Amino acid sequence: MAPITKSEFIWKDGALIKWDDAQLHLLATAVQFGTSMFEGIRCYDTPDGPQVFRLVDHMRRLIDSCRTYRLPLTYDVDALVQATRETIRANKLKGCYIRPMVLLGYGAAGLEADGSPLETYIPAWEWGTYLGAGALEAGVHACVSSWQRAHPNTYPLMAKAAGQYLSSQLMKWEAKRNGYQEAIGVSPTGLVSEGSGMNIFVVWRGKLYTPELDGTLLPGITADSVMQIIKDLGMTVEPRQIPREMLYGADEIFFTGTAAEVTPVASVDKVPVGAGKRGPITAAIQERYLAYVQGKVADTHGWRTVV
Ligand SMILES: Cc1ncc(COP(=O)(O)O)c(C=O)c1O
Repeated sequence: MAPITKSEFIWKDGALIKWDDAQLHLLATAVQFGTSMFEGIRCYDTPDGPQVFRLVDHMRRLIDSCRTYRLPLTYDVDALVQATRETIRANKLKGCYIRPMVLLGYGAAGLEADGSPLETYIPAWEWGTYLGAGALEAGVHACVSSWQRAHPNTYPLMAKAAGQYLSSQLMKWEAKRNGYQEAIGVSPTGLVSEGSGMNIFVVWRGKLYTPELDGTLLPGITADSVMQIIKDLGMTVEPRQIPREMLYGADEIFFTGTAAEVTPVASVDKVPVGAGKRGPITAAIQERYLAYVQGKVADTHGWRTVV
């Protein structure tokens, strides 16, 4: 994956600060215990200028993550949207990745975190394809992870909290070590849940399925967009329980995520998915999704925010 390309400014609590000045103390609560709510958002360089995809929905999810962890964020959706636009403009960015973070800084020594200030940062930088060049066409080789997703009501997996991503890192690192590009996690009951940083869709016997929201996965904003696109294309998708073995008999499988966009899965555990390449349903959805985010079709759902 591409390294971070430094920008000039980062938004911090109402002001733009220099990129290199966005520093945390070693003993910040977020460093000690992972208390950082974050988002991953993409801005696309469209024919009408830079436009951020589903910015409002990402900021709503960020606020929900803070509410779940009882972090007293005082910015509302509109303030966070405006701050993001300001950051992109100040850095003269076009296509970029935005990583808002609301975290507990330095102060408290213990878990209760009294005295650690809540700090909000919005960094943005230039960024390309997440799963490597060619992944969007050829697909990726995935494995079912030996690491399960957390049980519901352990970590609130509908929240996007940094500490919870230790689970995703275990999955991703194991997959890469074993020669795969991505991992698919199963829930504590053994049903298909999600990838390390993406949701999953399965075409099985000609019908489209995605795991239901069962407390083991993130409600992806790309997945939500794709569900609408599936309807727009005159197809249906059913959120349901997906046994692992459906993956091995699937006609097509694809991942969705802000970073991964719509990425076909070419094989699971070395079993080719369908013909082992991007299938026609995935191709149709991917094409519409990319055209939408890249501003090549009208914004019929009001998903693009002009910078
Ligand atoms: C664990 C996990 N699942 C799913 C997703 C996809 O979510 P979205 O489409 O909102 O980017 C992400 C990415 O943020 C993720 O980290």
